[in-house]
Amino acid sequence: MPVSSPARVVHTEVPGPRARERIALGAFDLQHGYRTVVVDDEKSQGVSLADVDGNVFLDLFSSFALGALGYNHPALVEVARSEEFLRASINPTSTPFLTTDTWLRFMAELKEKWAPRGTERVFCVDGGGEGIESAIKLAFMAHATRRRVAAGGPADPLQLSAEAQERVLDNEGTDSVLIAFRGAFHGRSLGALSATHSKITHKADVPAFRWPMATFPANRWPLERHADENAAAEAASLAEVARIFEQHDGRVASVLVEPVQSEGGDRHASGAYFRGLQALCKQHGAALILDEVQTGVAITGTMWLHEQFDLPEPPDLVAFGKKMQMGGCFATAPYVVTQFGRMYQTRNGDRARAMLATATLRTIDAEGLCAHAAREGAYFLDGLQAIADRHPALVSDARGRGFLLAFDLPTPAARDDFLKRCLKRGIFASYTGSKSVRIRPHLVTQRADIDEALGAFAAVAKEMA
Ligand SMILES: Cc1ncc(COP(=O)(O)O)c(C=O)c1O
Repeated sequence: MPVSSPARVVHTEVPGPRARERIALGAFDLQHGYRTVVVDDEKSQGVSLADVDGNVFLDLFSSFALGALGYNHPALVEVARSEEFLRASINPTSTPFLTTDTWLRFMAELKEKWAPRGTERVFCVDGGGEGIESAIKLAFMAHATRRRVAAGGPADPLQLSAEAQERVLDNEGTDSVLIAFRGAFHGRSLGALSATHSKITHKADVPAFRWPMATFPANRWPLERHADENAAAEAASLAEVARIFEQHDGRVASVLVEPVQSEGGDRHASGAYFRGLQALCKQHGAALILDEVQTGVAITGTMWLHEQFDLPEPPDLVAFGKKMQMGGCFATAPYVVTQFGRMYQTRNGDRARAMLATATLRTIDAEGLCAHAAREGAYFLDGLQAIADRHPALVSDARGRGFLLAFDLPTPAARDDFLKRCLKRGIFASYTGSKSVRIRPHLVTQRADIDEALGAFAAVAKEMA
């Protein structure tokens, strides 16, 4: 049943006077300068984001795709009001030393209904970046074990000689690498950051692993108008990855890739490209790690975007975050680590988050939100393409799958101007890459909301043209 969302209205600048007062209180926060919308949680409802000055926006940002069901969805409110949620929130447990029925039921349902096909186990942590860290570690562990055994050593690293163990503790344990992509974003923790390439701000002055980077294809849209150019870019990228494998012969543990490079500017590649990457990984004994932190959980029209790629085999590891209400990674059988302590985090097994995740996933299922995102996203994209066709010098590369949508303006300044004008009309969209507008509607966004957004985009494009 569609959730009702209050009408959009903007009567102050953003941030307004009340928001400014509150922002001043937060000055102790290292990042407070970025904050522009101070949310009124009580008044926000459905896809309408209310602020403390009484402005109400159509939320096409959803906190960088974190929000799934909009604000104050009844299914989540019901869970949060339950006695079980209260206990789960105030009595933290550290799985597996202390675990609970709630957590174990969540595991069973996750495996049966929501996990990517072919995966055997899941490891849950807090955020998406930690999910990536976990997947990277599992890939390195499996690869190092295979290398060690092939060289006549023990499968179990704890059986290594005392000298070899000392080398591990002194950071000289392995010379394995992973292959990442230019334009990628995998998180801000140190391992994930070494695989990240999207912006200098993220990486400046921080030591990094010297892992090789390949060029991501970044297909031009509409796809049918750019088929040859895109096929050539994908072939060149696969050839580059193949060369990197050869240069690091036997030392590549994994290829880490986003199904759509999201923070890097919503850069897409085809299913054929990902099948090519999987074939290269198989040929060289490396894991294919898909970072579905932003593309996962229904936003592209399927539970996981890679379901649309027709991969002959499941990806070896799939990282998640955001809409899952927690971070983590799914692993296929060869990447399951059974020795306790090699993978652990005090807060894994957070059953309060598990309850919210369960309610979110069940609602996605009950309300058919995958199909909804696919259908309404296609309608939204058609509308964006129509605006691009009307204003080709201003709007280009309207692109997306489901509700993961974007388009380009000619310059970063034009993009920022566009977003500010939209905000004044009650439409809160976001930025990505250097000059792209990023659209990440909540999964419950309705046709009338999309028409409202398209109307505002068209009016702003006309103003700026
Ligand atoms: C594709 C991708 N991977 C990883 C991350 C990191 O997730 P988190 O910020 O939850 O650590 C993000 C965050 O935007 C992301 O978009």
